[in-house]
Amino acid sequence: MSTVVQERESLTKNSRQLGLTEYWVEREIIENPANRTTAVPFVWHWKDIQPLLAKASDIVPMEEAYRRALLFSNPGLAPKAWMTTTIYGGCSWYNPGESAEVHRHPPSASRFVLQGNGGWTAVEGEKCMMARGDLILTPNGTWHNHGNDGNEPVIWVDILDLPLAENLNNSWVMEYDYYEVKSGEKAVQRTTQTITKTDDYSVKTYSVGGIKPTFMDHQRGLSTGSPMFVYRWADAVKALNNLREFEPDPCGGHSIEYINPITGGTVVPTLSFGVYMHEAGFQADFQRKTSSTVYCVIQGKGRTEMDNGKVMEWDENDVFVVPSGTWYRHVNTDPSNDLMLYAVSDEPTLTKLGFFVRHRRLADGTIVAR
Ligand SMILES: [Fe+2]
Repeated sequence: MSTVVQERESLTKNSRQLGLTEYWVEREIIENPANRTTAVPFVWHWKDIQPLLAKASDIVPMEEAYRRALLFSNPGLAPKAWMTTTIYGGCSWYNPGESAEVHRHPPSASRFVLQGNGGWTAVEGEKCMMARGDLILTPNGTWHNHGNDGNEPVIWVDILDLPLAENLNNSWVMEYDYYEVKSGEKAVQRTTQTITKTDDYSVKTYSVGGIKPTFMDHQRGLSTGSPMFVYRWADAVKALNNLREFEPDPCGGHSIEYINPITGGTVVPTLSFGVYMHEAGFQADFQRKTSSTVYCVIQGKGRTEMDNGKVMEWDENDVFVVPSGTWYRHVNTDPSNDLMLYAVSDEPTLTKLGFFVRHRRLADGTIVAR
């Protein structure tokens, strides 16, 4: 072995022992020509999820599970049970009469209902009843608990920004020490919240777009997110139907985003929540984003086409992920039915940090920034 080779090896060894790494060794990683992600495109099929959750509902008691959820674990991120490096999610099952006790945490969370009536989430004193397609928010720092008052199982998709919070050293152990104080009495620790708001408070207060009440307090708990905690599927469908007459985006079709009715901004600081509609026959162009998006098929069926001929086929209630940097387009394969995709993206985080870029590939192969 030549002297130079020996000296180089010695340099590497000595550097590593001192917590130093040679730039020229790391350069390929640092100066990566393409956006790098370790998460991979992946689909979790409802036909696989449902039987496993049903079995869990029989043999795993809620008292043990705390949350009876199967976590969407991206194979590229193992052993972490994360969908992307910013987004965490799972599918939860609540039998009639089951509940989860009140708690709060820095990550923002959401529920998107797939099946069953009678499910609810209480957030900052509001009991939010949940039906298929509804989005229920528990923005960062809000007290929340869950339950099922109905007579059938309730199943929903949970999405949180937990990996992002964890990467920023802010995914604390959940806080369960919830106290309520009645006037003149000692504080009492409780496992459920006393409901203090009228039924359907969020919808009654904020459901007319472009109008906000001016005599009410819009700060709810410690939240820096939306004071509107419930977004009804029926309202999303109505909004999308109103938009049909307009030319769709060439890549995303017709789409809407749920917003904070007070600021007009995203419903939580880190993630965007919305719905994409691809009408029957719509042909999307390929696009690539620096953000990552997770989807749940609320209506219809289709596939996601990616580079190198990779394809993800999906059907109703399936959940899938398109990580950052992926060239992709969604295809509605049902010639007589609109495709409706519930979508959650980390785009707001990337936008705030100046990292968000989106490209479109035209039919002739030209790539344009958007
Ligand atoms: Fe929670």
